[in-house]
Amino acid sequence: MIGKLNHVGVATPSIEEAVKVYRDLLGATSIGEKFSMPEQGVWVCFVNLPNSQIELIEPFGAESPIHNFLAKNPAGGQHHICFEVDDLIAARDDLRSKGATILGTGEPRIGAHGVPIIFVHPRNMGGVLVELMETPKGAH
Ligand code: CO
Repeated sequence: MIGKLNHVGVATPSIEEAVKVYRDLLGATSIGEKFSMPEQGVWVCFVNLPNSQIELIEPFGAESPIHNFLAKNPAGGQHHICFEVDDLIAARDDLRSKGATILGTGEPRIGAHGVPIIFVHPRNMGGVLVELMETPKGAH
């Protein structure tokens, strides 16, 4: 059921500073505009790579879930990885039936790509925070 690696989420205290790493040090040439997702408590910026994306995430607002991560990793760091699935509800229910914990209410919310997403608890994923997103329609 697991599909393509869609993106790697990288938390940062400053998207502007993080962009310099990918643009100036690594030579990335396709970098989107920074945009806010207030209901998720994050600023987001995508660095486009030939086969995937880096999702830069910076806290938005005082209640941002990223604050805890940055308290432990002040310079930022790898936060999550995101795989595509064809049917998010089916994937969620399958994971639950196998004993995995879905974060939050377990109900999908709309992620930065405009499609439903969920997060699976790292304790079920070998210590990695895993995001699952429904494959955007027309992407294949
Ligand atoms: Co993500």
